[in-house]
Amino acid sequence: MATGARGVVVLQDPKLNKSTAFTETEKEALGLVGLVPDVTETEELQLQRVNLQLAQKPTDLERYIYLMNLLDHNERLFYLTIMSDPARFLPIVYDPTIGEACLKFGHIYRQARGMYLSMTRRGKVKEVLRNWPEKDVRFICVTDAGRILGLGDLGANGMGIPIGKLQLYTACAGVPPQYLLPMYLDAGTNNEQYLHDPLYLGMRKTRPAKDELYSFVDEFVQAVQEVFPKCCIHFEDWTGVDAVHLLQRYRDKYCVYNDDVQGTAGIVLAGMINAAKVKGTKLSDERYLFLGAGSAGIGLADLLCTAMTKEGLTLKQAQSRVYMFDINGLLEDTRMDLVDFQKPYAHQHAPMRDFVRAIESIKPTTIIGVSTVGGTFTQKVIEAMSSINERPVVLALSNPTEHAECTPEQAYTWSKGKAIYAAGVQFPPVHLNGQTFLPGQANNFYVFPAVGMAIFATQASRVTDEMFIEAARAVADQVSPDLLKQGLLYPLQSNILETEIQTAARVAKLVFDSGLARVARPTDMVAFIREHVYKPEYKAAPASRTTAA
Ligand code: NAI
Repeated sequence: MATGARGVVVLQDPKLNKSTAFTETEKEALGLVGLVPDVTETEELQLQRVNLQLAQKPTDLERYIYLMNLLDHNERLFYLTIMSDPARFLPIVYDPTIGEACLKFGHIYRQARGMYLSMTRRGKVKEVLRNWPEKDVRFICVTDAGRILGLGDLGANGMGIPIGKLQLYTACAGVPPQYLLPMYLDAGTNNEQYLHDPLYLGMRKTRPAKDELYSFVDEFVQAVQEVFPKCCIHFEDWTGVDAVHLLQRYRDKYCVYNDDVQGTAGIVLAGMINAAKVKGTKLSDERYLFLGAGSAGIGLADLLCTAMTKEGLTLKQAQSRVYMFDINGLLEDTRMDLVDFQKPYAHQHAPMRDFVRAIESIKPTTIIGVSTVGGTFTQKVIEAMSSINERPVVLALSNPTEHAECTPEQAYTWSKGKAIYAAGVQFPPVHLNGQTFLPGQANNFYVFPAVGMAIFATQASRVTDEMFIEAARAVADQVSPDLLKQGLLYPLQSNILETEIQTAARVAKLVFDSGLARVARPTDMVAFIREHVYKPEYKAAPASRTTAA
């Protein structure tokens, strides 16, 4: 890519800027002599300075702001930083810090990133998309911020989520950042606090009727097909009902998926596969009770049932092993408030509003918290689970941290060390009665970046549930027996790029086997994925090639 850029233009372009690492030849060729300090530093030395400056920041939110600022100036150094220590940096660029960053988004805002598409642009969406400088966009992560994490309707403040999600495609699976476009689809907000905040960055309108929203999303999805024909649309953090309905609306026609529905399902399924391994059972031997029946819960229940059918159950038999409990109590067949996609899980059962009583009656082997409400797995809940199970499986998935249904310490203490536990966020190890437990993080970032990499490399034309099941199996298979013994259901984050390359290779193979790839089939799938991996390094930098041009 010979850009022809010179002088300060190079320094102001985060994709070209090397800060203090330009060589003498590059400085002369690019007219940079005198514009940067007269040194040529290595990436390692630059990273050392970044770490020094980060260490002086008092909070993770300050570290987040610093890192976003670094990204504004030097993209490669930003990715080098977060890829140098994923376990340390993922919680800063994504969960849990991102929750706080979103809450304050309009206040900490520095610079535009991604695109803002307001419903006022109806009829002009294609023109708006054409304003984006990159012409080959492969992923748009789009939110209307109807339900951000467990924080509710955040309107334009939710823009932090598609920005952060797409950074994980690169940091965790090596998808090159130039192909990624974060997008906020502004349909207003019902968040009174933001509507009255002068620094709020979105439309000051309450949300429209469903039909109006969906017809605008239709225009957006169709415009993407024309402007970015190889693009996969990743829906993120819409309200549960919209998430499921929009996925149903487009999944068979276009290359789309919803991470809250399918990505969450994939990662939890990986945990369940390993929990079953620890117990010496199969998925179809277990009985599941969900707390929460929104997009994450339904997506998981559906994927879980598909996975159980692959173990030999009929769909009906699989669904009969899954129960759900929401804000109005147990889903059962006399409930009148259920939407279509919840009904397969509304079994014949007496109405019940008490979760502990539901446990005593249904006798689940696994409880799954996707309720958005912290502390809902109380001591009584865990004790009830422990009294009917030798090894109760407790998945407390809501995030951010304070929304987890229970902490690992609570789960291990109240179950007297019997619980097999994972959360949606990272918790530190727990020491109990001389034993060390490693609580896993059932975070989608083990799954969607790898599936994304597979889609990117194969140019898949559709995204299927089978791709998420294969990703789940691949993730589960990469946890060693030693770690499983200590309770860890997921691979270690320190090695996440390699884990995701292996996962992406398995998903890519499935894409080819299913006839959904739009490129020629390679012989070595892992090598094929590696060829596509972005490397945050200055070698063969555009600047030096500019010299040659
Ligand atoms: P949603 O808003 O679609 O659904 C929430 C569900 O919880 C609804 O069925 C609601 O009735 C129920 N609920 C609310 N309060 C309740 C209460 N007190 N008792 C029982 N049920 C209650 O939300 P969605 O998309 O399903 O997400 C749920 C949670 O899962 C969020 O906190 C989200 O952050 C988390 N999540 C975690 C992921 C992970 O990687 N661990 C990925 C995606 C979501």
